[in-house]
Amino acid sequence: MNKTLRTPVIAGNWKMNLLPAGAKALAEELIPLTEGAQCEVVLCVPYIDLPTVLSSASGTNLKVGAQNCHWAEKGAFTGEIAAAMLKDIGVEYVIVGHSERRALFGDTNETVAQRTRAALDAGLKVILCVGEVKEERQQGITLEIVRLQTKIALAGVSAEELQQRVVVAYEPVWAIGTGLTATAEQANEVNKGIRDLLAELYDQDVADRTVIQYGGSMNASNAAELLAQPDVDGGLIGGASLKAADFAAIVAAAG
Ligand code: 13P
Repeated sequence: MNKTLRTPVIAGNWKMNLLPAGAKALAEELIPLTEGAQCEVVLCVPYIDLPTVLSSASGTNLKVGAQNCHWAEKGAFTGEIAAAMLKDIGVEYVIVGHSERRALFGDTNETVAQRTRAALDAGLKVILCVGEVKEERQQGITLEIVRLQTKIALAGVSAEELQQRVVVAYEPVWAIGTGLTATAEQANEVNKGIRDLLAELYDQDVADRTVIQYGGSMNASNAAELLAQPDVDGGLIGGASLKAADFAAIVAAAG
């Protein structure tokens, strides 16, 4: 359980916010604020903002990600974006399986697995989101749910792909956008549960080298405590990633 084997990843999920001009302004504000970062810093932005943010981030240590991709290589999928399209324009990361996509757009564990496989095949890095809803936590089945989501999504993923190109993000759904953060202990308990599963599915060394983030109302005030937990290797940040100073403070807390 050696945390030094992992470089923390702090990723902003801008969700469906910011027109290209606003995206450019925020990315450019973040460059000087994050240039000394000791962690990987990723901005996951709306598709339409990708070219602008890629151009602003070029030559800096900011990485750019999308928020979803389709599982097929190409074809008759009106309105969808293929992983290879993202890779082609220089995108490095893609979020897969976010709870908003599961709840609102019909993503299932199976389609999340397919999207994960497609993203890896296209050469992207994946931020794989898992997490329980409030009722599942109340029923005491959080770990079962998160283990199932993780296991299905990773079914076709090799050990090498996992440790080099997959970040698992534990995002309790009840903590997303609600201001209700998991306690540091709750976050660490589930992240450790995910790491134990990875040790079962792969081996302990692979598990120890895989980055597992926490996400859900992480902000400038609670980040340090969450990120200090032994199994919390970074954060996936929604609301607070839209404010440069707050996001920069979270990045600094990961250092
Ligand atoms: P909030 O940080 O706004 O709770 O969102 C978390 C999230 O969903 C990141 O993917």
